[in-house]
Amino acid sequence: MNIVYRLITAGDVDNAIALERASFADPWPRSAFEEIVDKPDADYYLAEDTDTGALAGGCVVFRIIDEGDITNVAVAEEYRGKGIATQLLNFALEHNEALGTEDFTLEVRASNAAAIRVYEKCGFESVGVRPGFYDHPKEDGLIMWRYKEGRETNA
Ligand SMILES: CC(C)(COP(=O)(O)OP(=O)(O)OC[C@H]1O[C@@H](n2cnc3c(N)ncnc32)[C@H](O)[C@@H]1OP(=O)(O)O)[C@@H](O)C(=O)NCCC(=O)NCCS
Repeated sequence: MNIVYRLITAGDVDNAIALERASFADPWPRSAFEEIVDKPDADYYLAEDTDTGALAGGCVVFRIIDEGDITNVAVAEEYRGKGIATQLLNFALEHNEALGTEDFTLEVRASNAAAIRVYEKCGFESVGVRPGFYDHPKEDGLIMWRYKEGRETNA
């Protein structure tokens, strides 16, 4: 296994859709992935196993002024527990910091302990709850933020 972290290209869209469908109850449609390839204010990052060409993981960052909204963090089942989500997210965070993004936010299912652990390892903290944010099944969402170093709140 040799994992490389990089930006998506048009040729990755089929694999990204397969990962999305395997990972989420409400997967994004193909059009959302096709749009993101050319969007200036959003990027899809992926982890590729260059030994096999398999897509091991992916995540999306939307940029709004100096804030980044992280979505669709997923690692293929056979690649989980190897630190890939943590490294992929750190890669995406660094890329966005270089573009001027200062603070990052995301939502996560309250029961998703593995994802919450990944986000905490990457410097995110839980700041609130969105009751009933998720469907299929209905569940609360935790709101997490990672503030620019030295800043304690987003106020
Ligand atoms: C969440 C997900 C992205 C994590 O990917 P990953 O590559 O396995 O993550 P990492 O290996 O970087 O880190 C996982 C951490 O969670 C921990 N963990 C795994 N299962 C856990 C559980 N049930 N309870 C608590 N911690 C758990 C691991 O021990 C590890 O922490 P450690 O390094 O301190 O030991 C992956 O499980 C996934 O794709 N899940 C389905 C999609 C999803 O839920 N995405 C998140 C949407 S917000």
